[in-house]
Amino acid sequence: MSRAMILGTGRGVPAGILTNYDLEKMVDTSDEWITTRTGIKERRKAVAGEETSYLAAEAGRDALSDAGLGVDDLDMIIVATVTADMIMPSCACLVQKHLGAHGCFAFDVNAACSGFLYACSIAEKYIRADSSQKILVVGAETMSSRVDWQDRNTCVIFGDGAGAVVLGGSVDDRGFVAEKMYSDGGLYELLYIDNAQSMNTDLQNPDYDGSYVRMAGREVFKHAVRAMAQAVDEVLVKAGVSPEALTLVIPHQANIRIVNKLRTTLGLSSEKVYVNVDKYGNTSAASIPLALAEASREGRLQPGDYVLFCAFGGGFTWGAQLVRW
Ligand code: ACO
Repeated sequence: MSRAMILGTGRGVPAGILTNYDLEKMVDTSDEWITTRTGIKERRKAVAGEETSYLAAEAGRDALSDAGLGVDDLDMIIVATVTADMIMPSCACLVQKHLGAHGCFAFDVNAACSGFLYACSIAEKYIRADSSQKILVVGAETMSSRVDWQDRNTCVIFGDGAGAVVLGGSVDDRGFVAEKMYSDGGLYELLYIDNAQSMNTDLQNPDYDGSYVRMAGREVFKHAVRAMAQAVDEVLVKAGVSPEALTLVIPHQANIRIVNKLRTTLGLSSEKVYVNVDKYGNTSAASIPLALAEASREGRLQPGDYVLFCAFGGGFTWGAQLVRW
């Protein structure tokens, strides 16, 4: 069976930039606090008309163009998101509409910040089964719609954007080599977005004050580093590839302290770990494909290089994937 490889990458981000200085005027915070604790200097914030499906379609068009393919070539569209425009239809169906991609099927994956890895995990199995298929995988979020803009603990962390890849059959044995994916629903209360309206009215919380990101930051931090480091180790052992053989690690861009702790735990130099959290904040499912699209355009990856993705997010969900570029 043929591997699935990445044929093209793309990005789609809102034009509007929200800096730490802008946030200083909104909540009791400072550029110094945000920069030191998170590494974030600015993030993108969507406005009306820049819904998740719009950003996802932008990223999708960019990825198709990079791959030299058209919408009619697509067999499937998967969108990883926790901020779909609507509960029904899926964000992927709206992306299909925006792209005018007839003759394929489309669905969403909800795995928070690990969503892109989960979606690639599904897509690459389809391509292993039929290497002629072309699949658009998008990670897209408008996290600004799900943060409480009066809560300084969370509103400084997240950002909006989308990244995408097109997957197809492998050339020269390039593509997805190994993966380890996990989840643990038992720990969901450390990071979640509630939705009281989805519950039976008898079960609804009378104190419900909005459908926002709720996070136990310190606990999330500890679990994230430990879980991602373990998944990375397992993938490298499974693939028989040493950490030294990696050209680039693209971790979920949660915050710079998680990324740096992961880097030192794995014993990697800073040149080997891609970071753009300073420009976009934590864009959840979009963070890895957005970073990958930028790394690719900066010429950081050459055919045959090993690139490793790892993510951790609400659920909890986490995992790592090794790709031969
Ligand atoms: N500005 C100023 N002060 C703030 C802010 C802010 N934006 N936010 C919190 N504080 C205050 C707190 O109120 C607290 O004050 P207190 O001591 O008077 O009570 C103080 O700063 C310290 O708060 P802590 O939460 O202990 O700060 P910590 O050093 O843990 O940093 C942070 C917080 C950045 C959230 C950290 O815990 C973290 O990085 N956690 C990981 C969470 C994360 O990345 N989540 C993203 C989603 S999950 C994922 O993507 C993997």
